[in-house]
Amino acid sequence: MKFYRCLICGDVYMGTEMPTNCPFCGALAAKYLVKAEDWVDENEDIGNISDISRRNLETALQLEVNNAPFYKDASLKSENIELQGVFKCLAKIEAEHASALRKVLKTEPPLPEEGKEVALDSDIDNLKAAHRRETAAAAFYKKAASEAIEPRINKLFTALTEIETDHIRLEDILIAKFSSH
Ligand SMILES: [Fe+2]
Ligand SMILES: [Fe+2]
Repeated sequence: MKFYRCLICGDVYMGTEMPTNCPFCGALAAKYLVKAEDWVDENEDIGNISDISRRNLETALQLEVNNAPFYKDASLKSENIELQGVFKCLAKIEAEHASALRKVLKTEPPLPEEGKEVALDSDIDNLKAAHRRETAAAAFYKKAASEAIEPRINKLFTALTEIETDHIRLEDILIAKFSSH
């Protein structure tokens, strides 16, 4: 058994082989997972965070704090066993993103924005809503990465952009699959 640790979320994975993605935050393992003994806490030497990065981190944290309970609610409302699992998985990943952002900001998370934590009544509407949320998040994270002068914050936003882009692709496939039901 080996231990791998994620440079993005800091969580440790135990397994016989490296997974393709961090099981906790979804980061691409080839880029961001290292052997546990080689892991370094890259949040430790960020230094002063620029105003623009701080604002972007706060906006990102609010997005993740809204999206995690949205996915949880979508999972609870779904009667489809596959989508229950998918939404539950995405809820955990978004909560992990909130946690990763919180560690950089060193703040308590805000409450979800009123109404933004609530899912709709049908699976297809929730898949489409999720797709819109992920699209908005990916575009925002890409911009935030380009605005970050701090290497660590650039890396974090780059990883988040990649992860949410994976979610958009996944949701494209699920929307096609469940539209024909
Ligand atoms: Fe991770
Ligand atoms: Fe996220």
